[in-house]
Amino acid sequence: MKNLVLDNLTEAVSFIRSQTSTKPQIGLILGSGLGAFVDQIQVTCKIPYSAIPHFMSTTVEGHQGNLILGQLGNKSIVILQGRNHYYEGHSMESVVFPTRTLALLGIETLILTNSAGGFGDTMQAGDFMIIEDHINLMGINPLMGPNIKELGPRFPDMTEAYDHSMISAMEKIFQNMGTRYHKGIYCAVSGPTYETPAEVRYLKLLGGKAVGMSTVPEVIAANHLGLRVGALSCITNLAAGISRQKLSHEEVTETAKKVEQKFSNFMKTLIETL
Ligand code: HPA
Repeated sequence: MKNLVLDNLTEAVSFIRSQTSTKPQIGLILGSGLGAFVDQIQVTCKIPYSAIPHFMSTTVEGHQGNLILGQLGNKSIVILQGRNHYYEGHSMESVVFPTRTLALLGIETLILTNSAGGFGDTMQAGDFMIIEDHINLMGINPLMGPNIKELGPRFPDMTEAYDHSMISAMEKIFQNMGTRYHKGIYCAVSGPTYETPAEVRYLKLLGGKAVGMSTVPEVIAANHLGLRVGALSCITNLAAGISRQKLSHEEVTETAKKVEQKFSNFMKTLIETL
């Protein structure tokens, strides 16, 4: 039986291939306010999501909504500048559609970034956290429903959802840069409300260090597809109840803006090292 998701993916991939001859090896999904990394690369093709069949436009401020292909040194890369979130009302199938498109375009490695609220002991706004593992508290999994065997197995292994060699590579780069970083577990929630202080205490009991509303669906879909995955959180704020300050999206985008240059330098070095 023909599968509609596969047909839609084929259409999206064919469209992108009709616009460029770049064959990307590495994919990057950039979160809120972190889109400026694109200035570091030699862009060969920029396509707004609205032009790509079956891609949803982004509705969140700070998410630009372009698929960008280009070169960084000898690496061909594809960047998704902005993502869709489950809290926007998109189905999980739509949330992971761009990730699947990148995989079918031929990438082998996927790097994801996000902004997150931090509650690790020594965390400060503006720190980075290398994601070592996650806890999915979104109440849904993007692979629910009939398995699409062309994309991956029914029961994907998640033992090393975040590639160990990529975690070590990221750590070395932060050490060389002299930049504050942490390693830890990212807890994914659906949002769109920020957490209550009680919820943050609960996440801490679970062993988490950061909380956010994205990334995990894409990481699950990418592991299903057999991609090598690395992910990084920008700790844009201390999570609810850790400081007395109220949380706002403005604080999130402001902090992301402040660390944007450091982040861009980090990402450039990481891609050169891979
Ligand atoms: N909670 C959830 N998601 C977030 C946060 C937060 O504190 N900061 C940025 N994204």
